[in-house]
Amino acid sequence: MTNFPIDKIRQDFPILQRKVNGKPLVYLDNAATSQTPKQVIDCIVEYYSLYNANIHRGVHTLSQEATDAYEAAREKIRVHFNAKHPEEIIFTSGTTEGINLVAHGFSKRLKKGDEVIVSALEHHSNIVPWQMMCEETGAKLKVLPMLPSGDLDMKAYADLVNANTKLVFVNHISNALGTINPIKEIIEKAKSVGAAVLIDGAQAAPHIKADVQALDVDFYVVSAHKMCGPTGVGVLYGKKTWLEKLDPYQGGGEMIDQVRFEQTTYAGLPHKFEAGTPNICGGIAFGAAIDYMNTIGFEAIAQYEHDLLVKATQALLEIDGLKIYGTAKEKTSVISFNIEGIHPYDIGTIVDKLGIAVRTGHHCAQPIMDYYEIPGTVRASFAFYNTFEEVEALVQAVKKAKEMLS
Ligand code: ALA
Repeated sequence: MTNFPIDKIRQDFPILQRKVNGKPLVYLDNAATSQTPKQVIDCIVEYYSLYNANIHRGVHTLSQEATDAYEAAREKIRVHFNAKHPEEIIFTSGTTEGINLVAHGFSKRLKKGDEVIVSALEHHSNIVPWQMMCEETGAKLKVLPMLPSGDLDMKAYADLVNANTKLVFVNHISNALGTINPIKEIIEKAKSVGAAVLIDGAQAAPHIKADVQALDVDFYVVSAHKMCGPTGVGVLYGKKTWLEKLDPYQGGGEMIDQVRFEQTTYAGLPHKFEAGTPNICGGIAFGAAIDYMNTIGFEAIAQYEHDLLVKATQALLEIDGLKIYGTAKEKTSVISFNIEGIHPYDIGTIVDKLGIAVRTGHHCAQPIMDYYEIPGTVRASFAFYNTFEEVEALVQAVKKAKEMLS
Protein backbone atom coordinates (compact mmCIF):
# COMPACT_ATOMS: atom_id res chain seq x y z
CA MET A 1 0.00 0.00 0.00
CA THR A 2 1.86 3.05 -1.23
CA ASN A 3 -0.17 6.01 -0.02
CA PHE A 4 -0.70 4.98 3.60
CA PRO A 5 0.60 7.97 5.68
CA ILE A 6 2.82 5.84 7.91
CA ASP A 7 5.44 8.54 8.67
CA LYS A 8 2.80 10.99 9.78
CA ILE A 9 1.03 8.34 11.85
CA ARG A 10 4.22 7.33 13.66
CA GLN A 11 4.79 10.92 14.73
CA ASP A 12 1.51 10.68 16.67
CA PHE A 13 2.95 7.98 18.97
CA PRO A 14 5.62 9.38 21.33
CA ILE A 15 6.55 5.91 22.63
CA LEU A 16 7.69 4.82 19.17
CA GLN A 17 10.62 7.24 19.47
CA ARG A 18 12.12 5.48 22.49
CA LYS A 19 14.92 2.98 22.65
CA VAL A 20 14.86 -0.36 24.43
CA ASN A 21 18.16 -2.00 25.34
CA GLY A 22 19.88 0.67 23.25
CA LYS A 23 17.92 -0.21 20.10
CA PRO A 24 14.94 1.53 18.53
CA LEU A 25 11.76 0.05 19.97
CA VAL A 26 9.95 -2.32 17.59
CA TYR A 27 6.60 -2.80 19.28
CA LEU A 28 4.91 -5.99 18.08
CA ASP A 29 2.74 -6.81 21.09
CA ASN A 30 -0.31 -4.91 19.90
CA ALA A 31 -2.72 -7.77 20.59
CA ALA A 32 -1.84 -7.42 24.29
CA THR A 33 -2.22 -3.66 24.26
CA SER A 34 -1.96 -1.01 21.59
CA GLN A 35 0.07 2.18 21.97
CA THR A 36 -1.45 5.59 22.65
CA PRO A 37 -1.37 8.51 20.20
CA LYS A 38 -0.78 12.05 21.46
CA GLN A 39 -4.37 12.96 20.55
CA VAL A 40 -5.54 10.54 23.28
CA ILE A 41 -2.77 11.51 25.71
CA ASP A 42 -3.74 15.20 25.23
CA CYS A 43 -7.37 14.32 25.96
CA ILE A 44 -6.34 12.70 29.27
CA VAL A 45 -4.13 15.67 30.24
CA GLU A 46 -6.92 18.09 29.34
CA TYR A 47 -9.46 16.19 31.46
CA TYR A 48 -7.30 16.24 34.60
CA SER A 49 -6.08 19.80 33.93
CA LEU A 50 -9.45 21.39 33.22
CA TYR A 51 -12.60 19.53 34.20
CA ASN A 52 -11.90 16.56 36.49
CA ALA A 53 -15.15 16.04 38.45
CA ASN A 54 -17.63 13.32 39.27
CA ILE A 55 -20.44 12.84 36.76
CA HIS A 56 -24.24 12.70 36.90
CA ARG A 57 -24.06 14.09 40.45
CA GLY A 58 -23.23 17.76 40.73
CA VAL A 59 -24.94 20.93 39.59
CA HIS A 60 -21.56 22.64 39.42
CA THR A 61 -19.96 23.52 36.11
CA LEU A 62 -17.08 21.05 36.23
CA SER A 63 -19.44 18.15 36.96
CA GLN A 64 -21.65 19.19 34.07
CA GLU A 65 -18.68 19.49 31.71
CA ALA A 66 -17.40 16.05 32.73
CA THR A 67 -20.89 14.53 32.38
CA ASP A 68 -21.34 16.06 28.93
CA ALA A 69 -17.94 14.80 27.76
CA TYR A 70 -18.59 11.29 29.14
CA GLU A 71 -22.01 11.06 27.51
CA ALA A 72 -20.58 12.48 24.26
CA ALA A 73 -18.04 9.63 24.32
CA ARG A 74 -20.85 7.11 24.80
CA GLU A 75 -22.56 8.59 21.75
CA LYS A 76 -19.35 8.39 19.66
CA ILE A 77 -19.01 4.75 20.64
CA ARG A 78 -22.69 4.11 19.80
CA VAL A 79 -22.21 5.61 16.35
CA HIS A 80 -18.97 3.69 15.79
CA PHE A 81 -20.57 0.31 16.50
CA ASN A 82 -23.91 1.39 15.03
CA ALA A 83 -25.96 0.57 18.13
CA LYS A 84 -29.55 1.74 17.91
CA HIS A 85 -29.74 3.41 21.34
CA PRO A 86 -27.11 5.13 23.53
CA GLU A 87 -28.35 3.18 26.55
CA GLU A 88 -27.26 -0.03 24.83
CA ILE A 89 -23.65 1.09 25.42
CA ILE A 90 -22.55 0.14 28.94
CA PHE A 91 -19.16 1.39 30.11
CA THR A 92 -17.12 -1.35 31.79
CA SER A 93 -13.56 -1.79 32.99
CA GLY A 94 -12.86 -3.85 29.87
CA THR A 95 -13.87 -6.92 27.89
CA THR A 96 -13.49 -9.24 30.89
CA GLU A 97 -15.96 -7.25 32.96
CA GLY A 98 -18.41 -7.08 30.05
CA ILE A 99 -18.39 -10.88 29.75
CA ASN A 100 -18.73 -11.38 33.51
CA LEU A 101 -21.66 -8.95 33.58
CA VAL A 102 -23.53 -10.96 30.96
CA ALA A 103 -22.60 -14.33 32.52
CA HIS A 104 -23.88 -13.05 35.89
CA GLY A 105 -27.15 -12.02 34.28
CA PHE A 106 -27.59 -15.42 32.63
CA SER A 107 -26.76 -17.27 35.84
CA LYS A 108 -30.23 -16.20 37.01
CA ARG A 109 -31.92 -17.33 33.80
CA LEU A 110 -30.46 -20.73 32.86
CA LYS A 111 -31.29 -24.12 34.33
CA LYS A 112 -30.29 -27.78 34.17
CA GLY A 113 -30.89 -29.13 30.66
CA ASP A 114 -29.94 -25.84 28.99
CA GLU A 115 -26.86 -25.84 26.80
CA VAL A 116 -24.33 -23.14 26.01
CA ILE A 117 -21.64 -23.24 23.32
CA VAL A 118 -18.10 -21.87 23.60
CA SER A 119 -15.55 -22.01 20.82
CA ALA A 120 -12.21 -23.77 21.15
CA LEU A 121 -10.48 -20.53 20.15
CA GLU A 122 -11.43 -18.49 23.20
CA HIS A 123 -9.33 -16.40 25.54
CA HIS A 124 -9.69 -17.59 29.15
CA SER A 125 -11.89 -14.56 29.83
CA ASN A 126 -14.51 -15.99 27.46
CA ILE A 127 -14.33 -19.45 29.04
CA VAL A 128 -14.02 -19.15 32.81
CA PRO A 129 -17.02 -16.84 33.51
CA TRP A 130 -19.24 -19.27 31.58
CA GLN A 131 -17.86 -22.27 33.44
CA MET A 132 -18.76 -20.48 36.67
CA MET A 133 -22.23 -19.74 35.29
CA CYS A 134 -22.69 -23.41 34.31
CA GLU A 135 -21.63 -24.59 37.77
CA GLU A 136 -24.22 -22.31 39.30
CA THR A 137 -27.08 -23.16 36.96
CA GLY A 138 -26.41 -26.76 35.93
CA ALA A 139 -26.36 -25.71 32.25
CA LYS A 140 -24.02 -27.74 30.04
CA LEU A 141 -20.96 -26.19 28.38
CA LYS A 142 -20.32 -27.57 24.89
CA VAL A 143 -17.23 -26.83 22.82
CA LEU A 144 -17.29 -25.78 19.17
CA PRO A 145 -14.05 -27.47 18.00
CA MET A 146 -11.22 -26.01 15.94
CA LEU A 147 -9.36 -27.36 12.92
CA PRO A 148 -5.56 -27.55 12.45
CA SER A 149 -5.66 -24.34 10.38
CA GLY A 150 -7.06 -22.45 13.37
CA ASP A 151 -10.49 -22.16 11.74
CA LEU A 152 -13.59 -23.19 13.64
CA ASP A 153 -15.19 -26.46 12.58
CA MET A 154 -18.47 -25.07 11.28
CA LYS A 155 -19.84 -28.51 10.39
CA ALA A 156 -19.48 -29.52 14.03
CA TYR A 157 -21.16 -26.25 15.03
CA ALA A 158 -24.22 -27.09 12.96
CA ASP A 159 -24.47 -30.40 14.84
CA LEU A 160 -24.01 -28.80 18.27
CA VAL A 161 -26.82 -26.26 17.97
CA ASN A 162 -30.19 -27.61 19.05
CA ALA A 163 -33.42 -26.60 20.77
CA ASN A 164 -31.66 -26.65 24.19
CA THR A 165 -28.99 -24.15 23.09
CA LYS A 166 -29.53 -20.92 24.99
CA LEU A 167 -26.32 -19.00 24.51
CA VAL A 168 -23.29 -19.03 22.19
CA PHE A 169 -20.06 -17.13 22.91
CA VAL A 170 -17.27 -16.79 20.38
CA ASN A 171 -14.54 -14.28 19.70
CA HIS A 172 -14.65 -12.22 16.52
CA ILE A 173 -10.87 -12.68 16.15
CA SER A 174 -8.68 -15.15 18.03
CA ASN A 175 -6.04 -13.35 20.12
CA ALA A 176 -3.62 -16.28 19.90
CA LEU A 177 -3.90 -17.13 16.19
CA GLY A 178 -5.51 -14.15 14.46
CA THR A 179 -8.34 -16.19 12.88
CA ILE A 180 -11.29 -14.01 11.86
CA ASN A 181 -14.30 -16.14 12.76
CA PRO A 182 -17.44 -16.32 10.59
CA ILE A 183 -19.53 -14.61 13.25
CA LYS A 184 -22.39 -13.70 10.92
CA GLU A 185 -22.95 -17.39 10.16
CA ILE A 186 -22.51 -18.31 13.85
CA ILE A 187 -25.10 -15.71 14.90
CA GLU A 188 -27.61 -16.75 12.20
CA LYS A 189 -27.43 -20.39 13.21
CA ALA A 190 -27.85 -19.54 16.91
CA LYS A 191 -30.85 -17.33 16.10
CA SER A 192 -32.50 -20.21 14.25
CA VAL A 193 -33.02 -21.91 17.64
CA GLY A 194 -33.60 -18.70 19.60
CA ALA A 195 -30.19 -18.69 21.34
CA ALA A 196 -28.49 -15.44 22.31
CA VAL A 197 -24.94 -14.69 21.13
CA LEU A 198 -22.08 -12.83 22.80
CA ILE A 199 -19.16 -11.88 20.59
CA ASP A 200 -15.83 -11.02 22.23
CA GLY A 201 -14.69 -8.21 19.97
CA ALA A 202 -11.53 -7.31 21.92
CA GLN A 203 -9.16 -8.35 19.12
CA ALA A 204 -11.42 -7.27 16.28
CA ALA A 205 -12.07 -3.70 17.41
CA PRO A 206 -8.58 -2.45 16.43
CA HIS A 207 -8.95 -3.87 12.91
CA ILE A 208 -12.62 -4.10 11.94
CA LYS A 209 -15.52 -1.72 12.42
CA ALA A 210 -18.26 -4.04 13.63
CA ASP A 211 -21.88 -3.08 12.94
CA VAL A 212 -23.92 -4.61 15.76
CA GLN A 213 -27.27 -4.04 14.03
CA ALA A 214 -26.14 -5.58 10.74
CA LEU A 215 -24.71 -8.54 12.67
CA ASP A 216 -27.91 -8.77 14.72
CA VAL A 217 -25.70 -9.73 17.68
CA ASP A 218 -27.07 -9.70 21.23
CA PHE A 219 -23.87 -8.71 23.05
CA TYR A 220 -20.54 -7.38 21.72
CA VAL A 221 -17.69 -6.57 24.13
CA VAL A 222 -14.50 -4.57 23.61
CA SER A 223 -11.62 -2.92 25.52
CA ALA A 224 -10.36 0.59 24.80
CA HIS A 225 -6.71 -0.28 25.29
CA LYS A 226 -6.64 -2.56 22.25
CA MET A 227 -7.66 0.36 20.05
CA CYS A 228 -5.36 3.23 21.06
CA GLY A 229 -7.30 4.09 24.22
CA PRO A 230 -6.31 3.76 27.88
CA THR A 231 -6.39 0.58 29.98
CA GLY A 232 -9.18 -0.03 32.49
CA VAL A 233 -12.12 0.94 30.30
CA GLY A 234 -14.25 -0.87 27.76
CA VAL A 235 -17.77 -1.22 26.52
CA LEU A 236 -20.48 -3.83 26.52
CA TYR A 237 -22.99 -3.42 23.72
CA GLY A 238 -26.20 -5.24 24.59
CA LYS A 239 -29.53 -5.25 22.81
CA LYS A 240 -31.91 -3.16 24.87
CA THR A 241 -34.40 -6.01 25.17
CA TRP A 242 -31.71 -8.19 26.77
CA LEU A 243 -30.23 -5.53 29.03
CA GLU A 244 -33.68 -4.78 30.38
CA LYS A 245 -34.15 -8.45 31.26
CA LEU A 246 -30.76 -9.08 32.92
CA ASP A 247 -30.25 -8.33 36.62
CA PRO A 248 -27.64 -5.73 37.59
CA TYR A 249 -24.12 -7.04 38.03
CA GLN A 250 -23.07 -4.81 40.91
CA GLY A 251 -24.99 -2.79 43.47
CA GLY A 252 -24.03 0.72 44.53
CA GLY A 253 -24.52 4.38 43.85
CA GLU A 254 -25.70 5.54 40.43
CA MET A 255 -27.43 2.26 39.55
CA ILE A 256 -30.48 2.91 41.72
CA ASP A 257 -33.80 4.65 41.41
CA GLN A 258 -35.01 4.58 45.09
CA VAL A 259 -33.17 3.08 48.05
CA ARG A 260 -35.19 2.11 51.13
CA PHE A 261 -34.18 -0.44 53.75
CA GLU A 262 -37.27 -2.43 52.80
CA GLN A 263 -36.54 -2.44 49.07
CA THR A 264 -34.42 -0.79 46.39
CA THR A 265 -35.49 -0.12 42.83
CA TYR A 266 -32.97 0.14 40.04
CA ALA A 267 -32.19 2.92 37.60
CA GLY A 268 -32.94 2.52 33.92
CA LEU A 269 -30.33 1.72 31.27
CA PRO A 270 -27.43 2.25 31.02
CA HIS A 271 -27.05 3.26 34.69
CA LYS A 272 -28.45 -0.03 36.03
CA PHE A 273 -25.12 -1.60 35.01
CA GLU A 274 -22.83 1.29 35.95
CA ALA A 275 -22.58 1.21 39.76
CA GLY A 276 -20.04 3.48 41.43
CA THR A 277 -17.84 6.23 40.04
CA PRO A 278 -16.72 5.01 36.64
CA ASN A 279 -13.44 5.53 34.84
CA ILE A 280 -14.61 8.94 33.65
CA CYS A 281 -11.38 10.06 32.03
CA GLY A 282 -10.96 6.60 30.48
CA GLY A 283 -14.41 6.73 28.89
CA ILE A 284 -13.77 10.20 27.45
CA ALA A 285 -10.34 9.09 26.18
CA PHE A 286 -11.94 5.99 24.62
CA GLY A 287 -14.07 8.38 22.55
CA ALA A 288 -10.92 10.26 21.50
CA ALA A 289 -9.26 6.97 20.50
CA ILE A 290 -12.22 6.03 18.32
CA ASP A 291 -12.08 9.46 16.68
CA TYR A 292 -8.38 8.99 16.04
CA MET A 293 -8.75 5.57 14.44
CA ASN A 294 -11.67 6.71 12.31
CA THR A 295 -9.60 9.63 11.04
CA ILE A 296 -7.13 7.11 9.63
CA GLY A 297 -9.98 4.86 8.48
CA PHE A 298 -10.60 1.19 9.15
CA GLU A 299 -10.44 0.13 5.50
CA ALA A 300 -7.02 1.72 5.07
CA ILE A 301 -5.86 0.19 8.38
CA ALA A 302 -7.05 -3.31 7.38
CA GLN A 303 -5.36 -3.14 3.98
CA TYR A 304 -2.05 -1.87 5.37
CA GLU A 305 -2.00 -4.45 8.18
CA HIS A 306 -2.83 -7.20 5.69
CA ASP A 307 0.22 -6.21 3.63
CA LEU A 308 2.38 -6.33 6.79
CA LEU A 309 0.97 -9.77 7.60
CA VAL A 310 1.70 -11.17 4.13
CA LYS A 311 5.25 -9.82 4.13
CA ALA A 312 6.01 -11.05 7.66
CA THR A 313 4.51 -14.49 7.01
CA GLN A 314 6.56 -14.99 3.84
CA ALA A 315 9.80 -13.82 5.43
CA LEU A 316 9.42 -15.80 8.66
CA LEU A 317 8.57 -19.00 6.78
CA GLU A 318 11.97 -18.80 5.07
CA ILE A 319 13.59 -19.57 8.44
CA ASP A 320 14.32 -23.29 8.69
CA GLY A 321 12.34 -25.09 11.39
CA LEU A 322 9.91 -22.19 11.91
CA LYS A 323 6.26 -23.18 12.12
CA ILE A 324 3.32 -20.79 12.13
CA TYR A 325 0.23 -21.77 14.14
CA GLY A 326 -2.96 -20.38 12.70
CA THR A 327 -3.06 -20.37 8.93
CA ALA A 328 -6.73 -19.54 8.37
CA LYS A 329 -7.49 -17.79 5.09
CA GLU A 330 -9.31 -15.05 6.98
CA LYS A 331 -6.87 -13.79 9.54
CA THR A 332 -5.66 -10.53 10.96
CA SER A 333 -2.12 -9.30 11.57
CA VAL A 334 -1.10 -11.84 14.22
CA ILE A 335 1.64 -14.42 13.72
CA SER A 336 2.08 -17.14 16.34
CA PHE A 337 5.13 -19.28 15.75
CA ASN A 338 7.75 -21.60 17.18
CA ILE A 339 11.13 -22.81 16.04
CA GLU A 340 11.72 -26.51 16.36
CA GLY A 341 13.64 -27.42 19.51
CA ILE A 342 13.62 -23.90 20.99
CA HIS A 343 11.39 -22.65 23.80
CA PRO A 344 9.31 -19.59 22.83
CA TYR A 345 10.35 -17.79 26.02
CA ASP A 346 14.03 -17.95 24.97
CA ILE A 347 13.26 -16.41 21.59
CA GLY A 348 11.21 -13.66 23.24
CA THR A 349 14.04 -12.86 25.64
CA ILE A 350 16.67 -12.58 22.92
CA VAL A 351 14.58 -10.46 20.56
CA ASP A 352 13.78 -8.12 23.48
CA LYS A 353 17.54 -7.52 23.85
CA LEU A 354 17.36 -6.30 20.25
CA GLY A 355 14.54 -3.88 21.07
CA ILE A 356 11.69 -6.04 19.78
CA ALA A 357 8.58 -6.56 21.93
CA VAL A 358 6.64 -9.77 21.26
CA ARG A 359 4.50 -11.87 23.58
CA THR A 360 5.47 -15.42 24.47
CA GLY A 361 3.49 -18.11 26.26
CA HIS A 362 -0.04 -19.45 26.04
CA HIS A 363 -1.63 -16.03 25.43
CA CYS A 364 -4.43 -16.80 27.94
CA ALA A 365 -5.65 -19.46 25.50
CA GLN A 366 -4.40 -22.73 26.99
CA PRO A 367 -6.96 -24.91 25.15
CA ILE A 368 -5.45 -23.79 21.82
CA MET A 369 -1.95 -24.69 23.01
CA ASP A 370 -3.24 -28.08 24.23
CA TYR A 371 -4.79 -28.68 20.82
CA TYR A 372 -1.41 -28.16 19.14
CA GLU A 373 0.37 -29.97 22.01
CA ILE A 374 2.76 -27.08 22.63
CA PRO A 375 3.52 -25.06 25.78
CA GLY A 376 3.10 -21.77 23.97
CA THR A 377 4.24 -19.71 21.02
CA VAL A 378 6.04 -16.50 20.15
CA ARG A 379 3.38 -14.05 19.02
CA ALA A 380 4.10 -11.00 16.88
CA SER A 381 1.01 -8.83 16.48
CA PHE A 382 1.13 -5.85 14.13
CA ALA A 383 -0.70 -2.54 14.23
CA PHE A 384 -1.20 0.16 11.60
CA TYR A 385 1.79 2.12 13.01
CA ASN A 386 4.25 -0.72 12.38
CA THR A 387 6.47 -0.62 9.30
CA PHE A 388 7.91 -3.00 6.75
CA GLU A 389 11.37 -2.17 8.18
CA GLU A 390 10.14 -3.42 11.55
CA VAL A 391 9.01 -6.66 9.91
CA GLU A 392 12.54 -7.06 8.59
CA ALA A 393 14.01 -6.26 12.03
CA LEU A 394 11.84 -9.01 13.53
CA VAL A 395 12.96 -11.54 10.93
CA GLN A 396 16.64 -10.72 11.48
CA ALA A 397 16.23 -10.88 15.26
CA VAL A 398 14.51 -14.28 15.09
CA LYS A 399 17.32 -15.58 12.85
CA LYS A 400 19.86 -14.33 15.38
CA ALA A 401 17.96 -15.94 18.26
CA LYS A 402 17.87 -19.21 16.36
CA GLU A 403 21.64 -19.08 15.76
CA MET A 404 22.31 -18.39 19.43
CA LEU A 405 19.95 -21.07 20.74
CA SER A 406 20.57 -23.91 18.27
N1 ALA B 1 -5.61 -10.68 25.73
C1 ALA B 1 -4.36 -10.03 25.59
C2 ALA B 1 -3.41 -10.77 24.70
O1 ALA B 1 -3.84 -11.51 23.86
C3 ALA B 1 -3.76 -9.67 26.89
O2 ALA B 1 -2.24 -10.62 24.82
